Amino acid sequence: MSAESLTLDKPRSPRRPAARRNNFELYSWLFMRLSGLALVVLVLGHLFIMNILDDGVHRINFAFVAGRWASPFWQFWDLAMLWLAQLHGGNGMRTIIEDYARKDTTRFWLKMLLYASIALILAVGTLVIFTFDPNIAG
Ligand code: HEM
Repeated sequence: MSAESLTLDKPRSPRRPAARRNNFELYSWLFMRLSGLALVVLVLGHLFIMNILDDGVHRINFAFVAGRWASPFWQFWDLAMLWLAQLHGGNGMRTIIEDYARKDTTRFWLKMLLYASIALILAVGTLVIFTFDPNIAG
């Protein structure tokens, strides 16, 4: 196997769209750094609490989740993690699509699919965090 076959292809899009007049890409670059920093705390904290602390994953059940979401602190933690991971991951995927889609129509439809999935997951996730009812018996 040649060394070349182990490397990642160069971005294949024949041209990048002309730079827009606003600073969207600058703020998007900054957002990736800042949300990345926040995610280190949010995601590693989440992993530690859910998988390592006390009995780790063995103590997670409906009552455990209900107990956590009774607190606005954990509701906010999970909401921040949902929004930041979704927007960070989505914006990262947008960059990849811009770099690698060869045709304008492919690029357009991949981005529409991405934006629709981001909107759906944000809407459903936010709805669950705010409307969660610990009274399972009804
Ligand atoms: C744990 C903390 C995280 C840090 C510190 C972090 C940091 C970063 C940074 C700085 C970039 C920009 C790279 C560039 O512009 O070249 C980036 C890109 C990206 N991140 Fe994260 N990230 C984190 C978590 C996540 C999570 C949870 C996801 C998925 C939901 C994610 C998905 C992505 C994607 C898809 C890209 C685009 C990659 C590319 O452009 O090739 N990251 N990340």
